[in-house]
Amino acid sequence: MLKPNMLEARKRLSKKIETEIFKLDPSYKNIGNGLTYVVKTYGCQMNEHDSENIEAILDAMSFEKIDDYEKADLVILNTCAIRENAHNKVFGLLGRLKHLKEERPSLIVGFCGCMAQEESVITEISQKYKWIDIVFGTHNIHELPSILAKNIKEKIQDIEVYSIEGNIVEKLPVKRASKYKAWVNIMYGCDKFCTYCIVPYTRGKQRSRKKDDILEEVNELIKNGYQEVTLLGQNVNAYGKDLNVNYDMASLLEDVAKTGINRVRFVTSHPWDFNDKMIDVIAKYDNIMPYIHLPLQSGSNRILKLMGRRYTKESYLKLFDSLKAKIPNVAITTDIIVGFPNETDEDFKETLDVVNYCKYDLAYTFIFSPRVGTPAAKMKDNVSLEEKEKRLQELNTLINKYAKENNLKYLNKVVPVLLENTSEKDATTLSGYTDTMKLVNVKADKKYIGRIVDVKITDAKTWSLDGEIVSK
Ligand code: 5AD
Ligand code: SF4
Repeated sequence: MLKPNMLEARKRLSKKIETEIFKLDPSYKNIGNGLTYVVKTYGCQMNEHDSENIEAILDAMSFEKIDDYEKADLVILNTCAIRENAHNKVFGLLGRLKHLKEERPSLIVGFCGCMAQEESVITEISQKYKWIDIVFGTHNIHELPSILAKNIKEKIQDIEVYSIEGNIVEKLPVKRASKYKAWVNIMYGCDKFCTYCIVPYTRGKQRSRKKDDILEEVNELIKNGYQEVTLLGQNVNAYGKDLNVNYDMASLLEDVAKTGINRVRFVTSHPWDFNDKMIDVIAKYDNIMPYIHLPLQSGSNRILKLMGRRYTKESYLKLFDSLKAKIPNVAITTDIIVGFPNETDEDFKETLDVVNYCKYDLAYTFIFSPRVGTPAAKMKDNVSLEEKEKRLQELNTLINKYAKENNLKYLNKVVPVLLENTSEKDATTLSGYTDTMKLVNVKADKKYIGRIVDVKITDAKTWSLDGEIVSK
């Protein structure tokens, strides 16, 4: 039994991070024989990718993946802690699982991800959710086989969550959701400690993967026919800073581009670490996609300071201008929080001013949600919910206007689209993304799935484009 601790999680120890190689103990290989599983995933791409590892580990233990969690023998919730509503969704599903467990006591319920790293959540689980079988954190996914094996034998609740990060684990198996595009972790954790954010606590200290391990993974993906990789990290622009070698994100991006993979993307950028060298590399390589997610959070310098963001509105706009000037056709999206403690009408107006200047392709907008243990949660939350909702709505109206305007610019243009799958609504429609990350629906034969084709845009909506294939 090992429970998380927020004070421990905040520490940044200077211990050297080693690389370990994952190996499944042969005694665990048949544990899942005859048993089915579902992994339910909440949150960001990092979590999606972690679930790809979890599923592959379960496959290697002979469990069988099914779609319906109500029928599964093992259900694992890979959770997100970023905002209150992410929490609520998970607790909602736990209510349903409790009933299932009462009907079928052999059901095994697992709980992992960012909520598992929260001290307050684990206290609640150990007191009120004793029927949850296993809990593991973001730092020890590789221990899932032994934790599961022990629970199947002993049948008592087991909580195994480290607050201090461990080593980097290489060669975890992965069951990728797509055959054409792949997530590739380049770093774990975050040391930025924005005052509202739980991630530095739930994901720990920044640890970059070694360049050779990353490039080996990308080359393997190319061999297996992958068209696109997205380099993943909480703060990818800071890649390499912890390795003490003269090799940074710009160097890595250039080396990944040189592998020749058709499309390279990366998320998420922090404006602070975005340097000119990186912009030049993005501009230089055609296979680095002209799409950048550049979180603004607020357009008011006073609020940015309270948020601990380390940049000003002016320096953000300078970076924005430089990206637009140097990267042809670049699409830029952002994240914005409204209703941060002490945000006045004037502060909010400054955010709108920045949106009016940047005319983002898309923005993800949120009402501030206090996260236990973060500095912002201790600030007086003095903006009323009514005011927060009003601001969010006003912001969204503006964001949608620019999203539509940007999409309209695509009308009658021919753009490259990686067609990925059939649309959920209509099996004769395929959907995919442009180089600039616009969602496009195309009436086309399934044989185009997995290919990058030229598409002429025939209609533009706020959230998507319609088009027809012009290259075969
Ligand atoms: N409240 C509201 N939004 C948040 N985000 C992160 N933490 C919080 C919080 N406590 C938003 C930020 C971030 C995105 C992933 O989620 O905008 O960029
Ligand atoms: Fe959610 Fe952040 Fe964890 Fe991703 S890293 S799952 S967004 S809390």
